[in-house]
Amino acid sequence: MQDQYLRRIEYLRISITDRCNLRCQYCMPAEGVQWLPHDSILSFEEILRLMRISTQLGFRRFRVTGGEPLVRKGILGFLRESAQLPGVDDLMLTTNGLLLPEMAFDIKSAGVQRINISLDTMDRDRFYENTRGGDVSKVIQGIFRSLEAGLNPVKINVVVVRGFNTDELPSFLTLAKEYPLHVRFIELMPIGVSSEHRSDFVSIQEMKELLGLEDDIPIKDIPGGGPAEYFRPNGYKGSIGFISALSRHFCNTCNRVRLTADGKLRPCLHSKHEVDFREVLRSGISDQEVMKLFAQAVWHKPAEHHMNNEAWQDTRVMSQIGG
Ligand code: GTP
Ligand code: 5AD
Ligand code: SF4
Repeated sequence: MQDQYLRRIEYLRISITDRCNLRCQYCMPAEGVQWLPHDSILSFEEILRLMRISTQLGFRRFRVTGGEPLVRKGILGFLRESAQLPGVDDLMLTTNGLLLPEMAFDIKSAGVQRINISLDTMDRDRFYENTRGGDVSKVIQGIFRSLEAGLNPVKINVVVVRGFNTDELPSFLTLAKEYPLHVRFIELMPIGVSSEHRSDFVSIQEMKELLGLEDDIPIKDIPGGGPAEYFRPNGYKGSIGFISALSRHFCNTCNRVRLTADGKLRPCLHSKHEVDFREVLRSGISDQEVMKLFAQAVWHKPAEHHMNNEAWQDTRVMSQIGG
């Protein structure tokens, strides 16, 4: 369907849990966040109903996110049912990768085609410190297990933070050169905890300078629904991508809305205007009524975000929104 700015909206990002088995420093405060109580989270049946209804409005791509989606019990059954819904052309997952060594093959056979894995550093101690306890070797194993399982493409999300991983960018290039992996460098967005770290922001322009990359011609053959711009230097098995959420935002081509774990439709990553579907779904209203509300919420998607404004602050942390 179209929104009021005539953008075609067909990509639904679904956060199925706010819980996570890590506590990345740019995402959560040291003490963690209060998890949502179980009954305030949408059940898989409720999510599947919303997905089905959204396909009738033209939604085709669905990305399952968290928190960490793989920690939710019953996830494989949910993925299997989602993949079988008529109209679901693309079922994708964004994960921190910790559970992939044991789950990658099951995820693929459940019907997920593509996977995005967060990996901000390959250094064992740094990873441990940044995630407050994570084991990077599990994520790296999980990446290779995903390739073996035939998930394609496998994309690596690297949020670039000044003084934390800027010196590692060349090693990430090597990863994309030697393996069929699509490494995306992401500008840090001032959401939740990150809003206190605006000075750690590194622009895509600066990243390209650090990497010594000349202006190249972007390639268009990497499947996905997101805003990354990709390049494939000569001899690379994979590619490198850049997500310029702040320095050159892509709101005019935005194609997505988000469903939070507690059932709010969030028309923009950065907008505080959420429409509650949980209570609506639980009040026993018809599919027709749900569809009308969904369409209205999408229609009112804002024109663009206001994150470049220093005074801008969100009310949620990233793990509650799903990235
Ligand atoms: P593909 O379908 O593979 O292109 O995925 P994606 O890039 O849409 O999804 P992913 O979950 O891997 O997110 C990668 C980064 O892009 C994360 O940092 C997200 O927060 C960011 N991102 C995704 N959607 C949006 C958006 O609508 N606006 C902004 N500003 N950032 C977004
Ligand atoms: N800015 C940019 N990306 C972020 N992510 C989490 N927090 C931020 C932030 N403040 C990324 C995660 C994950 C994706 C869903 O969002 O690293 O890869
Ligand atoms: Fe968990 Fe992702 Fe947040 Fe890290 S960024 S704490 S992996 S939700």
